[in-house]
Amino acid sequence: MFIKKNWAVPKGQAPTEMDRKILAFQRQGYLVPKRKLIKTPEQIEGIRKSGVVNTALLDMVAAEIKEGVTTGHLDDLIHQFTLDHGGIPACLGYEGYPKCSCISIDNVVCHGIPDEKTVLQPGMIVNVDCTTILDGYYADASRMFIIGETTPEKKKLVEVTKECLEIGMKEAQPYRFVGDIGYAIQCHAQMNGYSVVRDLCGHGVGIEFHEEPEVAHFGRPKTGMLLVPGMVFTIEPMINMGKKEVHFSREDGWTVTTRDGMPSAQWEHTLLMTETGLEILTH
Ligand code: MF3
Ligand code: CO
Ligand code: CO
Repeated sequence: MFIKKNWAVPKGQAPTEMDRKILAFQRQGYLVPKRKLIKTPEQIEGIRKSGVVNTALLDMVAAEIKEGVTTGHLDDLIHQFTLDHGGIPACLGYEGYPKCSCISIDNVVCHGIPDEKTVLQPGMIVNVDCTTILDGYYADASRMFIIGETTPEKKKLVEVTKECLEIGMKEAQPYRFVGDIGYAIQCHAQMNGYSVVRDLCGHGVGIEFHEEPEVAHFGRPKTGMLLVPGMVFTIEPMINMGKKEVHFSREDGWTVTTRDGMPSAQWEHTLLMTETGLEILTH
């Protein structure tokens, strides 16, 4: 297979230690990042600040989410909070998306559109996904919330999905690969009898909403892009209690549901690769 030669040493510059490491992988045929995916210290600072606001935003949601509240009301709170903190909700108007957040309940896998008609009820498992733009920098994260008491089965799905994110994060070490993350997540999900959604992925983030690389939540070790310090990306596994197949709504153009109607869960962080492992920018 042809692998793009993404990395080069700028003309007239001596190769750094990092250049040498990356070029060695590239020579062996591995996919390496383009230089622009390695954030500068200034960019990292900007994304970090955006992450602080996005985390405060999800903390606010945690305090407000409860039985009887509509998803539309939560979205209004998210809009106001973001503006009050000097940010812009990245979702609003993104490819025509009509709201500030995605709120995905039970069999909705992701991209659920908040509205005034959807009232939160006991037993629901709810993903709230928010992305903040602060001074041009993006931070993207989501959490699961359980409304009142739910079934042990749904509770376990929420917990195992969180473990999937954590296990994926542990695999993400400098000079390992995106495929190492996906492989670990897939193993943990399947060990618990669950399936991994394949049609949607994590992604590079920070300067734009969705950048390279694609971070699949399944895969094989030592495949996909090399992970290099300075890269910023999300891991956001969508794990289904039943089968992995999903359906994309033709009605609203956004809502993704499980084909079999079984529940799905998701957790997401924006992450910075450092010399020693990941730093979570959204907690
Ligand atoms: N926040 C989602 C993600 O994790 C993207 C939502 S795009 C929207 O990548 F337009 F639906 F908001
Ligand atoms: Co994301
Ligand atoms: Co998100």
